Amino acid sequence: MKKTEQLYEGKAKKVFNTEDPNLLIVSYKDDATAFNGQKKGTINQKGIINNQMSNFLMQIIEKDGVPTHFVEEINERETVVKRVEIIPLEVIVRNISAGSFAKRYGVDEGIVFEQPTVEFSYKNDDLGDPLMSPLHAIALKLLTQDEMDKITDYALRVNKILKEFWVQRGITLVDFKIEFGKTVDGTVILADEISPDTCRLWDTETGEKLDKDRFRRDLGGVEDAYFEVMRRLRENDK
Ligand code: TMP
Repeated sequence: MKKTEQLYEGKAKKVFNTEDPNLLIVSYKDDATAFNGQKKGTINQKGIINNQMSNFLMQIIEKDGVPTHFVEEINERETVVKRVEIIPLEVIVRNISAGSFAKRYGVDEGIVFEQPTVEFSYKNDDLGDPLMSPLHAIALKLLTQDEMDKITDYALRVNKILKEFWVQRGITLVDFKIEFGKTVDGTVILADEISPDTCRLWDTETGEKLDKDRFRRDLGGVEDAYFEVMRRLRENDK
């Protein structure tokens, strides 16, 4: 599969057309941004780690019954994926309070929930990705009620799969963001990426942050954290 013209360049990835109208090639960059692009930097080799990690996890998720955009990894930074129209919602699942949840409600980080929460943000950089209720998303025709039910169900299934996967590797899945898209025939599938950019991952024993919060909060050791997560990902099940 060969890239043809560039379709889009985002903050962390470029997307290319291919000779097949139903397939795209995603190319992962080392660029990192936070706070809607206000903070900019580079995380050395992040593109390689995010590409490989996302592909690995998408394949596990697909095997467990949630359809994904993954088709084939073609090199360390690039992957063939199914073409979708992205549903402009960030779907966020939380197991433990952190980040904007802790800030919004004035609570500490680290409160373990009895059951996971699901919330949605409207993907719109000009508006700063505002929180959006499911009924508002349906009112704005971003998706149908059936699609909303489906992505909520998928998001909780993805949470269960990822939580169990990371537990076996000494990592606590605090929260994560995923995105869904619709294929040409209207099927809703998991798209975008699953990586330390889009998940909060805490070392279960030490509580150390092993994700993009090290970059967002200037904690140092960003590259080491990404490498450590990749190393654990490759560990055999304990
Ligand atoms: P939040 O606590 O800042 O709302 O973030 C929740 C999760 O979503 C966290 O794992 C980081 C991820 N996330 C993204 O992937 N992209 C974003 O733009 C933001 C704000 C968060």
